[in-house]
Amino acid sequence: MHAVNQSLQPILDRPRRATFSWSRRSIARWALLAVTVCTGCQGPQSALSPAGEGAEQIAALFWAMAIGAGMIWLVVIGLAAYALRIVPQPHDKRSSRRWVIGGGVIVPTLLLSILLMFGLAILPALVRPAPEGSLHVEVVGVRWWWRFIYPSPDGGSFELANEVRLPVGEPVQFDLRSADVIHGFWIPSLGGKVDMIPGRQTRLTLWPTAVGTYRGVCAEYCGASHAKMAFDVVVMPREEFDAWLRQQAQDAIDPSEPDARRGSEVFLKSGCGGCHAVRGTAADGSIGPDLTHFGSRHSLAAGSLENSPDNLRRWITEPQSIKPMAVMPGYHTLSDADLASLIAYLQGLE
Ligand code: CUA
Repeated sequence: MHAVNQSLQPILDRPRRATFSWSRRSIARWALLAVTVCTGCQGPQSALSPAGEGAEQIAALFWAMAIGAGMIWLVVIGLAAYALRIVPQPHDKRSSRRWVIGGGVIVPTLLLSILLMFGLAILPALVRPAPEGSLHVEVVGVRWWWRFIYPSPDGGSFELANEVRLPVGEPVQFDLRSADVIHGFWIPSLGGKVDMIPGRQTRLTLWPTAVGTYRGVCAEYCGASHAKMAFDVVVMPREEFDAWLRQQAQDAIDPSEPDARRGSEVFLKSGCGGCHAVRGTAADGSIGPDLTHFGSRHSLAAGSLENSPDNLRRWITEPQSIKPMAVMPGYHTLSDADLASLIAYLQGLE
């Protein structure tokens, strides 16, 4: 007994409170962590950096939940610390029951009810249909890219791929369909997400409030290249949007440069037109993305790569290495000269 007491003595003699000193290194670590966490909230694909009415509501709900959960955590940890410090002694039964019923039933019921009311209050704003006369964009999710169908100024419609442009401060309704499996349409900076279900049409109304370039993604796992199914979103002033829409509705302009002209022949001769359409030419395929104005897009391979000649070369010759199981076959048999002309043609389709 005596020996045990002696061996416990050093532990019992330790100071009860741990001392914590703010060394320069620990300050630097915490500062780095804070900066890392804060920068994670910014960027073109952040629901916490809202640029649309729906996203603002969702961000408000997130912060209310995060701050509320933080406060509850502090109270619970505070009570746990208090419980560790008090001298154990018999408790009054009535006061114990009060703690169990109050902390275990009444408080959680109250908090969850408040949260439910908050969630239900913002719901109508997230699911409201766009007012009559609003812009409608049809979207088809395809493994693993996006087909966008816009109304053309002459009353018809025309097709684009992997890049959506919207006028700022106006509602837009997306009519969503799928060509194969379930995809999820989501532009985190602008609003909520909606699934695209085969055989059904769903819809989503977004209200962009700030000019800028954002990123949309597929939010439902849809196979090998699900993570490579993104698109650029450009929100612009109304006049710029109208000019862009008029330009995109037009057919492709015949290339004037000899190299690009040769590239258009390579394009047709190699069978690219069997899958891709270039309006105004013999290429009228509909399996792959429409390439009529490919050169004006920010990215290629559905947001996988920046739209540059080098990346386009990689995409044409080895698409499977960029997007596993993509339908696009690799054209590594093209000569360097043919490839260079093809790239000049495609980049010139603005
Ligand atoms: Cu489409 Cu995930």
